[in-house]
Amino acid sequence: MTITLALSKGRIFSETLPLLKTANIEVLEDPETSRKLIIPTSNPDLRIIMVRATDVPTYVRYGAADIGIAGKDVLIEYGLDGLYTPIDLEIAKCIIAVAAPNNFDYAKRIEQGRITVATKYVKTAQEHFTHKGVHADIIKLYGSMELAPLVGLADVIVDLVSTGNTLKANNLKMIEKICEISSKLIVNKASYKTKLKDIQSIINIFQKAK
Ligand code: ATP
Ligand code: PRP
Repeated sequence: MTITLALSKGRIFSETLPLLKTANIEVLEDPETSRKLIIPTSNPDLRIIMVRATDVPTYVRYGAADIGIAGKDVLIEYGLDGLYTPIDLEIAKCIIAVAAPNNFDYAKRIEQGRITVATKYVKTAQEHFTHKGVHADIIKLYGSMELAPLVGLADVIVDLVSTGNTLKANNLKMIEKICEISSKLIVNKASYKTKLKDIQSIINIFQKAK
């Protein structure tokens, strides 16, 4: 039975390749240069579909893909309905954090009880500030979050931090860590039952490789 694996371009794809290679599975086209969205592998029973990182859980939830690899940031934000998460692959590691301009007085703003936050992680940010007892006005963005506090769109951002280079280059500092992030293997619950043997063998490959 063919298994469909949903991946996103960039770091998740490139960090997944070596894991597949441990089982001698080669991906037969490079998604960075090919315009193809369905990519065969050297294993005739495994094909890859290329989707946006935030769309990976959606394809898997509806069964359009049997399995996928998605960041914990995306899974926290959009939920785990209909999904199993058998393995933390420990790839694409970073943290999700609150960050602000170097000279921003966060403690004072928290004391005042109201803050404006730019982020693509609306639910995560809302929950974080609710937990602190602070009213957060959330502004949803789709990228370049670091710009928002520099041009007066928001006081702080909630975004991913890895090396810290992006924050540093924009005179921002990390203020509060919210959660450690890595990518997980996600599995459609129905596929897991109907294609148990094939999916379990892919799970075993990832389990051994990590
Ligand atoms: P989209 O295309 O949907 O906007 P994206 O641009 O966030 O997604 P990527 O940048 O490839 O896509 O990020 C995919 C995943 O990799 C994220 O969900 C996160 O878990 C992780 N990630 C993002 N940025 C970093 C980083 N700087 N270092 C390590 N891991 C990261
Ligand atoms: C991510 C994230 C930060 C940056 C942090 O962006 O949104 O901007 O990485 O990494 P750093 O701490 O190592 O600088 P990404 O590189 O994925 O760019 P994109 O969201 O525009 O694709």
